[in-house]
Amino acid sequence: MSQKSDLHVHCKIVLSFLMIAAVSVLPGASDAMDAAPLYGSKCAACHGPKGEGSPVGPALKGDPFVTQGATAEIKKVILMGRMEKDKKYPNFMTAMPGGLVSEAEAEALVSYLIGDIQK
Ligand code: HEC
Repeated sequence: MSQKSDLHVHCKIVLSFLMIAAVSVLPGASDAMDAAPLYGSKCAACHGPKGEGSPVGPALKGDPFVTQGATAEIKKVILMGRMEKDKKYPNFMTAMPGGLVSEAEAEALVSYLIGDIQK
């Protein structure tokens, strides 16, 4: 009798440990960094608060480079910028400045541009 209930208690302990482990790991697995305020402070001035574009930056919402492009290319533009001879939009006087964000921030921004901004 006591052996059976010992096993029961043991299972409960293991189970609750697993649940705590799962709960503490999950938030880390998703985007720990919140890209929305980052976009708002570093990108919205040129690309518009909702990615709709402005006189100094092309729209990112509905932009095929973002919706159909390779994430590595998007990340590269965010990190390195795009200026002078590399510029793709001659109708914009401005260039895309590089060095605005860290690598981790650029990664979070790529997810944000592909995801939330397109909604
Ligand atoms: C000073 C204005 C300015 C700021 C700030 C800025 N951008 Fe840009 N961005 C541009 C311009 C202008 C282009 C187009 C450059 C060109 O002619 O190719 C561009 C291009 C891009 C592109 C490529 C679009 C395409 O269709 O090829 C992406 C992606 C992008 N920006 C993301 C961002 C993100 C993310 C941020 C914030 C970290 C940001 N930009 C901040 C002006 C800006």
